[in-house]
Amino acid sequence: MNRCIPALLSALLVLGAWSRPAPAAAVDDAALASTPPMGWNSWNHFGAGVTDADIRRAADELVSSGMAAAGYRYVVIDDGWQGRRDAHGVLHPNAKFPDMKALADYVHGKGLKFGIYSSPGQRTCGGYAGSAGHEAEDARLFASWGVDYLKYDMCSFTRRLAGQPLAAQTAMIEAAYRRMRQALDATGRPIVYALCNAGWGHVWTWGAAVGGNLWRSTVDIRPGYQSMLFNASAEQGLERYAGPGHWNDPDMLEIGNPGMDDPDMERTHMSLWALLAAPLIAGNDLAAMNAATRAVLTNPEVLAVDQDPRGVQGRRVAQQGPIQLWARQLADGTRAVALLNTLDHPLDATLDLAALGLHGAVPARDLWRRRDLGRIDGRHVFEVPGHGVVLLKLGTPASR
Ligand code: GLA
Repeated sequence: MNRCIPALLSALLVLGAWSRPAPAAAVDDAALASTPPMGWNSWNHFGAGVTDADIRRAADELVSSGMAAAGYRYVVIDDGWQGRRDAHGVLHPNAKFPDMKALADYVHGKGLKFGIYSSPGQRTCGGYAGSAGHEAEDARLFASWGVDYLKYDMCSFTRRLAGQPLAAQTAMIEAAYRRMRQALDATGRPIVYALCNAGWGHVWTWGAAVGGNLWRSTVDIRPGYQSMLFNASAEQGLERYAGPGHWNDPDMLEIGNPGMDDPDMERTHMSLWALLAAPLIAGNDLAAMNAATRAVLTNPEVLAVDQDPRGVQGRRVAQQGPIQLWARQLADGTRAVALLNTLDHPLDATLDLAALGLHGAVPARDLWRRRDLGRIDGRHVFEVPGHGVVLLKLGTPASR
């Protein structure tokens, strides 16, 4: 009789293996964002009032404006889409989103990718239902809709941290983010994972390890010059944490929104995000976008800096009074270099090539004017507009 037990056990094991669903194909999380993700998100313009119609229109405009062709692929619904969770634990969208699958199909039908927002807390920052305790169900729901990108925002999760020592807080946040990455991976669907926790627990030191493709390193951006410069400056020192598959995120773009719709400020915002290898998630009303804003968002030479395949994040290398010098090493051996004027009136600025370790005259190209300047040396003076920028590519590309 006893001899039957092993046979019975192995029969049960075989049966168990037979009835288990096939394991999901391994998802290569890092490959999901080999360059910084580009797209559009509803929050900066529509806030929690966003509707199905707004998202469809954004997808339409992304294509008709040329932004999709320039590389903006993700259409992300931020906070405000959630309704109630039913007795079976299934989260339903609210009345503004009558059919999420149909909406995702519409976005995909335009050749774009579809993104959504949730929280590891009970409630999102806008007070809507979060995914706490429902990670696996929500991940499966998102995958069933065809979600390609999840922004996961800490929000009410911070309440659980109260009274905990700092190390324990960080461990709890890491575990919460890892839980959702595992749930997403278990669906077998490749989903870009955007961590959003305003830098809490030095997220840049563990964001990649928990499967994040990008992580917010700062507080929320506002449509204004000082907020934009503050968020860019907060990236200083975080360079080594960025690279293909995982990026520091100084927050979404405000380009084109009231307060950040002056072309010089827009060019500065875009130049800094490109130098920082930052995700480029536009947040303006695409239907009302003017030609100047569109030109800033789609300049191919500036986008190429952001999307440089080596993925080395740039930094501020020098500051002289109100003039800042920023630089980024590019894959072809050249450098992208920006002279920023942080005052609101024009200033003359001398390019300090020595601060970049460059000597003698070097070939230069103006990336906003899209013009070669010939060879310039460290005595070259540029007039930089108030709150404006001169963005250059310096050096001779290495031949491949
Ligand atoms: C936080 C995030 C924002 C946005 C809102 C939504 O503030 O940082 O980007 O997602 O929540 O409530």
